Amino acid sequence: MENQNIAAGLSAVRTIAITSGKGGVGKTNIATNIAIVMRKYKKKILLVDLDLGLANVDILLGIHPEYTLQDAIEGRKEIKEIIVEGPEGIKIVPASSGIEGLANLNESQKEQLYKSFSGLDEEVDIMIVDTGAGISSDVLNFVLASNEILLITTPEPTAITDAYAMIKVLSRKRKNATIKLFVNHSDSKEEADSTVKKIALVSQRFLDVKLEYVGYMLHDQNVSIATRMQKPFTTVYPSTKATSCLNKLAATLLKNNDASQSLGVGDYFRRITHSSILNE
Ligand SMILES: Nc1ncnc2c1ncn2[C@@H]1O[C@H](COP(=O)(O)OP(=O)(O)OP(=O)(O)O)[C@@H](O)[C@H]1O
Ligand SMILES: [Mg+2]
Repeated sequence: MENQNIAAGLSAVRTIAITSGKGGVGKTNIATNIAIVMRKYKKKILLVDLDLGLANVDILLGIHPEYTLQDAIEGRKEIKEIIVEGPEGIKIVPASSGIEGLANLNESQKEQLYKSFSGLDEEVDIMIVDTGAGISSDVLNFVLASNEILLITTPEPTAITDAYAMIKVLSRKRKNATIKLFVNHSDSKEEADSTVKKIALVSQRFLDVKLEYVGYMLHDQNVSIATRMQKPFTTVYPSTKATSCLNKLAATLLKNNDASQSLGVGDYFRRITHSSILNE
């Protein structure tokens, strides 16, 4: 079904799940800002907040969504009613803490959810999914349902260890997985490069995984200032060093577009509702 759609030129939606081993490494900032930066390439973006803990995307953007994904899951609202418009015209699906309910939907509710999300395919080129940190079953489910995985780490030893733990679990669940690696909070390019080398050395020796180094973001005080202002740093500080780094990330991601990796929005939600990972 998915392949037929791709062959017919339908549902060509790239899905990129953003995750990390350790918490607080910058996932939500990167997810939100990469979504905004990609708009400059005229891409239609859907940013889906699947962090079960806190609805971070809306806090980061200072927006107050009236409804959440939970309203759609429970059939009270249509998908189009829960979507809010963010900066630069990105579309946002706000998180809800009760989303674990996805696993308990009956078949007709799942089908309904699939159908309504599939209706978004025409309006979306790239779907960016912000997940929580760590190797809980729900995070793994949201990550593995995506065709592309962007793993964020920092140069800190604890973040590196946790990134490795995440790579290990993902590589066991998905054979020949390709994981895109991005280093945040780096002091220099050299520090980012050496962080990636450390991770690649152990991963490639012990795990069946392909790591793709897609870039780094320098530690930049303007990111935390923008966070406190509840504004995206790429918008308030368009020439700051973190923004330059994210511009490069967007260019790298958009350059390597493998159309066979595409997935419909509905297909992504079908995968997370049918996942057996949640029950493992
Ligand atoms: N490159 C950077 N330079 C300076 N501060 C940064 C940078 N990246 C992120 N931060 C700051 O780090 C904090 C955590 O960022 P963020 O909320 O995006 O992380 P997260 O990985 O989504 O966290 P969680 O695991 O809790 O979801 C924020 O206060 C943010 O401003
Ligand atoms: Mg977050």
